[in-house]
Amino acid sequence: MSELRSSRHISLLGRSAAALATIVPLTFALASAPTYTKGQAENGRGIFATKCAQCHGPALEGGAGPTLVGPYFSAQWGDRTAGDLFLKISTTMPLSAPGSLDRESYAALLAFILMSNSIPSTDTPLPTDPSALGQMMIPASQ
Ligand code: HEC
Repeated sequence: MSELRSSRHISLLGRSAAALATIVPLTFALASAPTYTKGQAENGRGIFATKCAQCHGPALEGGAGPTLVGPYFSAQWGDRTAGDLFLKISTTMPLSAPGSLDRESYAALLAFILMSNSIPSTDTPLPTDPSALGQMMIPASQ
């Protein structure tokens, strides 16, 4: 009887170890760094100059709106997802006309902000899909 019980225990342990082995790499896959292309960021630079710079400064140094670079940016957005920041920008900015740009433009702006914070560009564009953006973590400091 006790032998039976312990062998059942072992098979349960084996099963949860197998489950862990599937969950752990999945968690890492979910928390990947944001991807964006240089072209996307350069496009974002142009949009930023016309739609955002008057409040956030031409070099994102801040003005009527907060700075979008450096330790302040890192403290606000580090360890949060690109989806959180995309949502913030696309639903509240520009302050005078929230949501007035298309999703591609908001993605380009986000790419420009990431580049301005020394997050490296990649060959894969920043997606506009909320669930894909939600799986990308902004690094805490660069
Ligand atoms: C008319 C001024 C104004 C314009 C134009 C403007 N913003 Fe803002 N922005 C603000 C103010 C003020 C805040 C702080 C209040 C808030 O978070 O809503 C802010 C906050 C933000 C934040 C969050 C900053 C933080 O970490 O707290 C981001 C990101 C941002 N703006 C991006 C943009 C982008 C991108 C554009 C251009 C599409 C833009 N803003 C245009 C005034 C502006």
